[in-house]
Amino acid sequence: MSNKAQRELMEAFNRGIVQGVYVVTVKAGEKLNSMTAAWVSKVSHNPPMVMVSISPTHYTHDLIKEAGYFALNTLAYGQEEVGRHFGFVSGRDVNKLEGMQYFEGESGAPILTEAMAYLECELFDTFIAGDHTLFVGKVIGGQVLHSSDIPLVFERADFF
Ligand SMILES: Cc1cc2nc3c(=O)[nH]c(=O)nc-3n(C[C@H](O)[C@H](O)[C@H](O)COP(=O)(O)O)c2cc1C
Repeated sequence: MSNKAQRELMEAFNRGIVQGVYVVTVKAGEKLNSMTAAWVSKVSHNPPMVMVSISPTHYTHDLIKEAGYFALNTLAYGQEEVGRHFGFVSGRDVNKLEGMQYFEGESGAPILTEAMAYLECELFDTFIAGDHTLFVGKVIGGQVLHSSDIPLVFERADFF
């Protein structure tokens, strides 16, 4: 493939799929962590199941494997700063939840009170896809916390 075709392919890959912005949260034993993720999708209606694609280099990756549960917190329009807060440093180095308001879900995963909605999931299976792991979860709980909020659509320029 020519360099030009490769560039066009990557531009289409980066811009051709529309995504929201989420904060993935987890509690494994006494360890709490949260990271921003845009690679999130529904995968089954009955039963309701979702997936999030996470790099094995991230702390959250190991904690979800350990916990067997995770939660997705949906960010609303105007919450780009929250996405940046959870998306550029690792929970291995910093407690990203310090100073944030949250309550514990059924699995203990932190639920951000400012999220427009959340889904709590029991880990159903994992699949390796290239350089990421797909975590497929069965939805075991969830709520729309702020029904008039508009979801945040991921735009590269807002973050990178
Ligand atoms: C807007 C945005 C979206 C992101 N989406 C993903 C994603 O879908 N999957 C992923 O593995 N990392 C994603 N990241 C990167 C992680 O959030 C980031 O590397 C984080 O620091 C990992 O934290 P941890 O080591 O505490 O788990 C995203 C970052 C930003 C800012």
